[in-house]
Order: sequence, then C-alpha cells, then structure tokens
Amino acid sequence: MKILVVGNDARTHVVAETLANSPQQPVLFTYMKANHPGLAKLSEDFELGDYNDLEKIKTFAESNAIDFAIIGPEGPLSEGVVDALDSIGIKSVGPVKALAKLETSKAFTRLLGKKYNIPGMPLFQVFESKGGLKEFAAKVDAFVVKPDGLTGGKGVMVQGDHFNTKEEGLKIAQELIEKDGIIVLEEKLIGEEFSLMSLCDGKNLFDFPPVQDHKRAFVGDKGPNTGGMGSYTTGKLLPFMTVQDLKDAHNITLKMAEAIEKETGIKYKGVMYGGFICTKDGVKLIEYNARFGDPEAMNILPVLKNDFVEVCKAVIDGTLDKITPSFREESTVCKYAVPEGYPSDPVSGRKISLKDVPSEAKVYLASVEEKQGEIYMSRSRAVAFVGIASDLEDAEVIAENAVSSVKGPVAHREDIGTMELIQKRIDHMKELRG
Ligand code: AMP
Ligand code: GLY
Repeated sequence: MKILVVGNDARTHVVAETLANSPQQPVLFTYMKANHPGLAKLSEDFELGDYNDLEKIKTFAESNAIDFAIIGPEGPLSEGVVDALDSIGIKSVGPVKALAKLETSKAFTRLLGKKYNIPGMPLFQVFESKGGLKEFAAKVDAFVVKPDGLTGGKGVMVQGDHFNTKEEGLKIAQELIEKDGIIVLEEKLIGEEFSLMSLCDGKNLFDFPPVQDHKRAFVGDKGPNTGGMGSYTTGKLLPFMTVQDLKDAHNITLKMAEAIEKETGIKYKGVMYGGFICTKDGVKLIEYNARFGDPEAMNILPVLKNDFVEVCKAVIDGTLDKITPSFREESTVCKYAVPEGYPSDPVSGRKISLKDVPSEAKVYLASVEEKQGEIYMSRSRAVAFVGIASDLEDAEVIAENAVSSVKGPVAHREDIGTMELIQKRIDHMKELRG
C-alpha cells in the first residue's frame, strides 16, 4: 500500500504517524511546501513544492504508483489537488475543490444550510453590497462579521471581542465589502464551542470524539484569535455537553453531507469538521472545515483503535457503514509552543531545544525547520505536545510538563485542560441553560 500525504504541519504529522501505525504497514510518500523533519522521517520519499503546482504533485504521485492520497491542510484542497489527482485515477481522502467550498466559502455553507433547512443555523445574511447592513444589525442583539474565504482562523470579527458597538461593526463590514466584494453577517452566538470531526464517504459518517480548542492567544481566553493554542478531549462527551448536543451536531453534519450531494451531484469524501457551539437554544453551527482540525487532530488520532488505512479506504469506497469507530477511552490534552509574540508580532527564525521534553508526551512538529540537527521556529505555531492518560488531570500534567520544558523564546497557555478552566466552561453552560 502506497499512500501520498500532502501537507507539512503538525496535523499532517499525526495523520502520517497514524497511517504508519496501521497493521497494513503502508509506505508513505509526502508532498510538502517546506521540509518537515517529522514527516520526512516517516516517508519513503518526499517532494517539496507549492500546493498550486498541480503538475509536480501529479508527477510525484504517478512516479510512485500511489494507491490513494490524504490531504492534511485546507490549502491543497482549495488549490484543487484532489481534482488533479483524480484526473490521473488517484482517489483522495479530501473533497474536490467544488466541495472544499464547505470551508473556503462561508456564504456557500450558510446558504446551503438555509436552502436545505438544516437545523442549527444562526440568523445570517450574505452581503455583496452595503445595502441592508444596518437593517440586519438592527435585528440582532450583537453580530459577527465574517470574510467569505480562508483566513487561517483569524478573520472573524465578533462584537464584544473585536469591536464594541454596532456602528463600529458596520464600519468593519463596509470596509470588508469594499475589499472582498462579499461578506457574511451573523447573529452572535453565546455558549461553549466544540469541534466534531467526522470522516464522510458521501453518505455515512465516522465520528471522532468531540474536542474543545482554545483559539485565543493568552491565558484566560484573552488576546487575539490564533490558529488554536491547544485542545482537550475526555474520551466521550466534553464536560459541558449533553448526549443530545452530540446527537444534534452529528445530525447537522449528516444533513449537510446530503445537501452537498443534492446541490452539486458530487459525494463528499473527506473530513467534515463542524465547529459547533452549545447555546441556551441548543447546538448551533459556527462553520465547517474540510480537513482535520489543528490542534484537534492531535487529540483524536493517537487514541484511534481502528486501522486508519482501512478507514481511509472505506471513505474512498463509500463503505464507512461497515466500520464501527473505536477509540481508547482516555483523556487527551494538546498544548502548542508558539514563538514569543505570536500571533501579532512573533519572533522569527529563533532556535529552540526539545532535548528536555519528557518521553511520556507525544511531540508533533508544526512550523519549524531543522538545520544541522537544530530546530528553528518560523512565525507560526511551532510544536504541539500531547498528554494522554486515563483522566484529564494527568493528561494535562503530561502536556504542561512537556510544553514548559522547551528551551527558547516560546510561549504557551498554561490553562488549557486544567480543571479550573474546564469548571468555568461547565458553569458558563449551566448559567446559560438555566
Ligand atoms: P472561524 O474563522 O469561522 O473558525 O471563526 C473563528 C471563531 O469566531 C469561532 O471559533 C468563534 O469563536 C467565533 N465565531 C464565529 N462565528 C460566530 C458566531 N456566529 N457567534 C459567535 N462567535 C462566532
Ligand atoms: N483548530 C482550528 C482549526 O483547525 O481550524
């Protein structure tokens, strides 16, 4: 079995590791934008290139007689890498470009939700001109301004967080319409967020356990939004969720998969990562991503008991209904070490040392480079550390000890996965649900 892995981040690293652990012992080939030392080590061979260099990707895949591909980040999906591979007969775990719009266009997903009466949609409106903005704002208590396209998780502007008054929000909305020609306004949802990632074969879903990510840069959910500073799972439900919340989220994703096929005639094959929020009115959909979450992938793939290669093949063959998802019932905590100053003004190109990282933690490299055996950061999240244990407190201690053992100009969030922060989430939900 020869598998092509596309990507060079921590999420792609854990995807490759999970494939490599399959009893089928696949041989991995990686196409990456920059040399990722962890992926390079796991690969029989790798190729460096841009995600829009579709010819280079096809040549690399063809010359290695690849059986199937799996795509890590959203970049290659939005460039049409899946379509390019499909054109030479190589199937992928990852949607074609037209369906990656689930992530690459917030307007596409919201309008689909509305057209097919999918539950959990907030009040929203897509704007292609400034007309009607004020009227929308008047209908809701508070609102959120969203660029339509990819922004690395840093584009959404939330009233109360990124701007205070409706007037300020309308000004941001107007400027964004002038720049992009399209935006989405939504009512502001209040509650606790979770990520439910499901593999979809076009019809059936394979759900991973729900994960809670932490988007804000600093302790106490302060500071700017980031790609995600860390995340945790507890085996099954998150402590603030109900069984019904999880069922509702699953149902929204299932209905979305059906709607996609009805609308486009194409079956969605890949990850449907729903960003959901538990509110006083039940579960609502914040957005979809068309790939695994980063950091969330580092929580759920290491505890997968199924043979991941078999699961990937079932996605491609449309036979996911034959597989029962199975996970180790353990808690996981993932914490990122990021360059000091991230995300606004990160130090750049600085050396770090991982020599003191305790061996019980799992380590996934993100935006780093290896030169003469030394690790150098770029300006993005650098290294993810994962603790896995039978209870959350132990998992947190493992992750915290690991991330704080990094030598160099790095920062991390000490509070992720701690009981103190989780109790706040539980209390918040109790208060909202009444
Ligand atoms: P996204 O770029 O869609 O991942 O959104 C980034 C973050 O913005 C989400 O994780 C939420 O915290 C926040 N957000 C997005 N949409 C809403 C909404 N309708 N109400 C409240 N917060 C939102
Ligand atoms: N953890 C956020 C994301 O992957 O988009």
